[in-house]
Amino acid sequence: MFDKRLMKEITESRRYSIGNVVLQWLGLCVNVLMMYAIAFLITAVWSGFTNGYVLAVCGMIALGALPARWIITRAAAYMSFQAGRTVKKTLRRRIWQKLLHLGSTYAEQTRTAELVQTSVEGVDQLETYFGAYLPQLFYAVLAPVTLFLVLVWFDWRPALVLLVCVPMIPMTIIAVQKWAKKLLSKYWGQYTEMGDSFLENLQGMTTLKIYQADAARNVKMNEEAEKFRKMTMRVLIMQLNSISIMDLVAYTGAALGMLVGILCYRSGSLSLTGCLLVILLSAEFFLPMRTLGSYFHVAMNGMAAADRIFAFLDLEEKEKGTRSDLDGCSIVLQDVSFGYSDDREALHHINMHIPEHSFTAIVGESGSGKSTIAHLLMKQRTCENGTITLGGVPVEEVAEDTLFDTITCITDRSYLFKGSLRENLCMAKEDASEEELWDVLKRVHLEDFAAERGLDTEIQEEGKNLSGGQRQRLALARGLLHDTPVYIFDEASSNIDRESEAMILEEILHMRKTKTILMITHRMHNCKEADAIYVLKDGEIKESGTHASLCEADGLYKEMLMQQSALEQYAGGTYEA
Ligand SMILES: Nc1ncnc2c1ncn2[C@@H]1O[C@H](COP(=O)(O)OP(=O)(O)OP(=O)(O)O)[C@@H](O)[C@H]1O
Ligand SMILES: [Mg+2]
Repeated sequence: MFDKRLMKEITESRRYSIGNVVLQWLGLCVNVLMMYAIAFLITAVWSGFTNGYVLAVCGMIALGALPARWIITRAAAYMSFQAGRTVKKTLRRRIWQKLLHLGSTYAEQTRTAELVQTSVEGVDQLETYFGAYLPQLFYAVLAPVTLFLVLVWFDWRPALVLLVCVPMIPMTIIAVQKWAKKLLSKYWGQYTEMGDSFLENLQGMTTLKIYQADAARNVKMNEEAEKFRKMTMRVLIMQLNSISIMDLVAYTGAALGMLVGILCYRSGSLSLTGCLLVILLSAEFFLPMRTLGSYFHVAMNGMAAADRIFAFLDLEEKEKGTRSDLDGCSIVLQDVSFGYSDDREALHHINMHIPEHSFTAIVGESGSGKSTIAHLLMKQRTCENGTITLGGVPVEEVAEDTLFDTITCITDRSYLFKGSLRENLCMAKEDASEEELWDVLKRVHLEDFAAERGLDTEIQEEGKNLSGGQRQRLALARGLLHDTPVYIFDEASSNIDRESEAMILEEILHMRKTKTILMITHRMHNCKEADAIYVLKDGEIKESGTHASLCEADGLYKEMLMQQSALEQYAGGTYEA
């Protein structure tokens, strides 16, 4: 009913909630005054009371209470809105900050779709918790006590009967709470799961269509949706049943209070005005609790969402590196082993030395662990076994800013954003001059394309309106503009036509004089010029050396090279071993 952590964490909206309670209470006082004036008027008419002045004052009080109530209700609604708004703002800011703190490793610990749902809808649910439920919780206690204190002046018996019946509503709420909590937690679980697969299917729609797998997916999604529908119905049934029980309790209690009031009037212990007031106000005893009951289910939903939000906010944050005292930018991997899951290692005992201003290449068949090395270097994954140092400092101790100022990693999946060509480039260097922009575009052979359309040409999200090759060139240009001492190219030119790739490769070779280059590639002819080549297989380094020494060794490298050359010759290529 009352989430202590939520209250503790979100202190800003508390004053609005208090304001709401005070205003609602004022509204109740005005209501009591109005009811008293009406009861007095009825009694006066009934008993033939003729003092025109008193009657006029009573009439004015009764009428004047209406606009007063309207103003108070509006003000209370404003407070409620502010409380909800503040909580939304606070929580979303905190979720965002947490994401920033988790940094590039966030994907290790959470799913994107769940995060989106939690921070959008989950937080919306809490708006009702703070804006409506919480103030109502206090008001629902304050209102019956106030009314009891008013009615007890007339006769304690009906007042006591009404007061005693009120707690029966929260008792029914508590009775369903345990059941509701379990149900709602399941409901949210299914909801986020469904959201996850919906997002995935939407993103992969083209692929599903190509393989005509959309119909099967549709069936699967329908099954999930049906499961979710059933769960939603169970939640609704639970909510409706508990509301019906609360209504029953409220109306029975009010009827009981009225009955006792009438009996007291008949026995002469209660005046007619008092009896009328009991009748007019008896429903008011229960209404706040009844409203609390109807908010309760939304609030429960909010609390279930809060559990998820806090679970995310409580995710363990790996200790952040703070060091920026790098001694150069050589990279050393010592006995590094890593697995994405506990049962399978992607890298075993890797030892590698990438000296400053060198050109190092990693080759190996698909799935051999090449990109994993880049992930560990960029701290997208955490290396638990072995050490990786950059400029002599273990990467986990290197400050994120320093890391990104030192290494630029360009992959075949580098993301292009919706915006102009210029905006996508300037992400790497905010104050890049026009000249610098054209220079990098030229280096990746994209200047004709850019000249034709202009630097302000619109790029769609993920670069959807560009060809695969154009996308990669643009990502490369952006990387070059970043101008860091170390570059990792992870299949960064895999989609580019051979001719341009050869020219870009030349550009990269040119960079080796001033930069440290790590090239991850499956095209072996791209690394012939490398100072050192590491050959990976099943997560292990099988061979290392220069192109010449590896050819001489006549091992795995040579074998792969021969296979590739044969394939390329067969396809009309001109590359030789
Ligand atoms: N996010 C991930 N979660 C679980 N396993 C993963 C993940 N990414 C990669 N793997 C697994 O780790 C192993 C190494 O993958 P990696 O991406 O490093 O291969 P690669 O050598 O770069 O392959 P490719 O040449 O195809 O890019 C593979 O067996 C792969 O299935
Ligand atoms: Mg890879």
